[in-house]
Amino acid sequence: MKHPICKTGDMPPEGKARVFPFFGCEPQVWRTGVRIRAAASECLHLGGPLECKDGAFVCSWHGARFHMADGSAPAGARLMFPLTRIGGEELVYVWGETP
Ligand code: FES
Repeated sequence: MKHPICKTGDMPPEGKARVFPFFGCEPQVWRTGVRIRAAASECLHLGGPLECKDGAFVCSWHGARFHMADGSAPAGARLMFPLTRIGGEELVYVWGETP
């Protein structure tokens, strides 16, 4: 099954991220080269909101930083990436499919 997150034409320029409403959560969506990625916009420490700053997602509550390239943080944590694909001109969330 699939559900659209956003139109590919609504993507921010590389190095920036944009939040899109999606079933009560707001994933961060951004470009890394030709790849479009989406990740939960919630810090893995205590769930603080993340902001895109200087090539990283930074938690507003206690300052954890997650790299935009792979969602990793120095402590070894990694942002949650929902399975997504490009479908037509949309970034879609995909579930229930086998690779
Ligand atoms: S909730 Fe994000 S660093 Fe604590």
